[in-house]
Amino acid sequence: MFSKEIYIKRRETLKKSVKSGIVLLLGNGEAAMNYAGNDYAFRQDSSFIYYIGLDTPNLAYILDIKQDKEYLLGDEPTLDDVIWMGNLPSLKERAAKAGIDHVLPLADLATIVGNGLKSKRIVHYLKPYRYRNQLILSEILGKKADAVVAGFSLELTQAIIRMRLIKSAEELIELEEAGKTGYAMHIVAMKMCHRGVSEREIAGTMEGLAISTGNRVAFPTILSMNGQTLHNHDHSGILETGRLMLCDAGAESLNYYASDFTRTTAVDGKYSERQKNVHNIVLKALNDSIAMAQPGITYKSVHRNAYRIIFEGLRDLDLVTGDTEEALEAGVSALFMPHGLGHAMGLDVHDMENLGETLVGYDDETKRDDRFGYRSLRFGKRLEVGHVLTVEPGVYFIPQLIEKWKAEKINAEFIRFEKLADFYDFGGIRLEDDIVITPQGCRAVYERRLPAGVEEIERMVRD
Ligand code: GLY
Repeated sequence: MFSKEIYIKRRETLKKSVKSGIVLLLGNGEAAMNYAGNDYAFRQDSSFIYYIGLDTPNLAYILDIKQDKEYLLGDEPTLDDVIWMGNLPSLKERAAKAGIDHVLPLADLATIVGNGLKSKRIVHYLKPYRYRNQLILSEILGKKADAVVAGFSLELTQAIIRMRLIKSAEELIELEEAGKTGYAMHIVAMKMCHRGVSEREIAGTMEGLAISTGNRVAFPTILSMNGQTLHNHDHSGILETGRLMLCDAGAESLNYYASDFTRTTAVDGKYSERQKNVHNIVLKALNDSIAMAQPGITYKSVHRNAYRIIFEGLRDLDLVTGDTEEALEAGVSALFMPHGLGHAMGLDVHDMENLGETLVGYDDETKRDDRFGYRSLRFGKRLEVGHVLTVEPGVYFIPQLIEKWKAEKINAEFIRFEKLADFYDFGGIRLEDDIVITPQGCRAVYERRLPAGVEEIERMVRD
């Protein structure tokens, strides 16, 4: 947790952005894994963490704008809690750490909100993503569950997005910490990338490292020889000579900030010519995107430029043909990279995705492009100093997708389908770095860069 002054200041800024009514931030509760008492590791809600900093379950925060009064709601630890879980701080002590003077029992939430509604005051809350919080809101607001989801406060959501998107100095230190662990996780994975080693062992070793230095992984580790499946969580393979291992993983720091890196490594550090050629296209897309990212430029244009590099690189390999601009308009590169170039990152690996991907990544000026591939870009708007983003181009050969395009003659004038059949066992290559936008352009969040070039990766695996 940061010092209480940081949370006080953030809440003061938030207060200025919400004109009237009551702001309610609900913390998360425990989530049972297979029975109550055997819970998933507790994960606090990220906006609650951002404004309150407390990471114990069953808390709520109320800000009454008119009265300029704020409350932390929760329950005092019982003797049973102390016996089973240890000596927990009192509610008052926890509130003091966040700079909040007033505390109330959680049961008072219904009364405060009910009184507010009776007086026709707006109750601002965020869209719930957990059923527990949806249920609580349903009860206290007297609305059905789907009406609760639809009735979230746009004013509060947009105010929070504006603040959380721009990372402060103390947040960047946390992100760097997560980056340091993420870096170490990937180095271990590269070193273990030898034939006969199981994917599960590598993923488990990486995740253990994340837990040993922070809270956990920032998202379930993606690690597979079948990298053409973009989010492959099946780690049942045993590494084979001639294959590529795609690994997309990151850590969550003790203060909940994320890292997210991807590297694709040839088993035993031996790339075939074909693998090298595709790798170099993705590497160029990564490096050129990083070189292009700077304040004032839209990330949508950086994504489009990555599509340009991929198209031209594949054209050099004779897998596609035609004019670049026409191919970009037709969306040809989406066959090979059906995902976006990157996303915002912070307290969530896809930062604030629970608040609405389009609200986070787009605005009145920059609208989401609804064409296949382009539409998967999570963050398209103009970059500003303090934005933290992933840059993650890839080239994948997804047999089912290629077959569909071939059968339906989609972009058939650009694509050499007859040549792509040889790539059905290729898998996919993705390379991903994390950047922060600076006045001069951008820099890596964590100063050390994972090996990215073929030779560097080969050396890392073999040494
Ligand atoms: N690195 C996983 C994701 O961005 O979804």
